[in-house]
Amino acid sequence: MTNFDLAQTDRLMQTTKQVRKRLDLTRTVPVNTVLDCIDIASRAPIGGNMQVNRWLLIDDAKKIQALASLYGEYGKDYLENGKKQVEQLGSDPTAKRVVESSIYLLEHLKDVPLMIIPLRMGLPGKSLFEQATFFGSVLPGVWSLQMALRSRGIGSAWTTLHLYNDLKANDLLGIPDTVTQVALLPTAYYTGNDFIPSKRRDAKEITYHNTWKDPVS
Ligand SMILES: Cc1cc2nc3c(=O)[nH]c(=O)nc-3n(C[C@H](O)[C@H](O)[C@H](O)COP(=O)(O)O)c2cc1C
Repeated sequence: MTNFDLAQTDRLMQTTKQVRKRLDLTRTVPVNTVLDCIDIASRAPIGGNMQVNRWLLIDDAKKIQALASLYGEYGKDYLENGKKQVEQLGSDPTAKRVVESSIYLLEHLKDVPLMIIPLRMGLPGKSLFEQATFFGSVLPGVWSLQMALRSRGIGSAWTTLHLYNDLKANDLLGIPDTVTQVALLPTAYYTGNDFIPSKRRDAKEITYHNTWKDPVS
């Protein structure tokens, strides 16, 4: 028997959404609150327990605008193409919603109060082992951060589109080229609190037992 309130912990994990349209662009996010969340996120697993993760908080309006334009340079075409594909393939309402909300974020990114860039010291290697260990040592913490923020009323969206311009972002932010950015989280208090779990396939459809494709009975 654990002392966890499963209803609460399950709800937190299931309703930590990628927040785009409901980011409150008018409200400042206190740095101390984000630091508390980073302390929590730092408990996520790290290969070999090396302290290789870093976080960069950006609330300088000029830098946010510059990052938004680096994001848009590739992001605009990427998302417009996505929109066309969704329209051509018919109307999967979830895909349509995601692409529309991504375009909304692209258009409002320059106005977010805070961006968080998770980083990892070093560069990813070539082998699957090296890459799995490299990214596996930083990405779990990003998800923990999103949940810690969410439980404090702060929304964030996991994005990667600015990474097409990673070296330009390095220049802008003074990040050495020996350090790897892994995402960019536009972050702000969210409006409303009626997030519902995203639609995903059932566990039984995506879980196999002992042999690839053998179902769990
Ligand atoms: C690795 C990764 C990269 C992503 N990159 C972007 C991005 O560049 N822009 C964006 O708007 N959303 C991005 N997303 C968010 C996904 O589109 C999002 O998970 C999807 O909309 C589902 O949202 P939900 O988890 O709230 O249901 C990314 C998510 C992941 C995990």
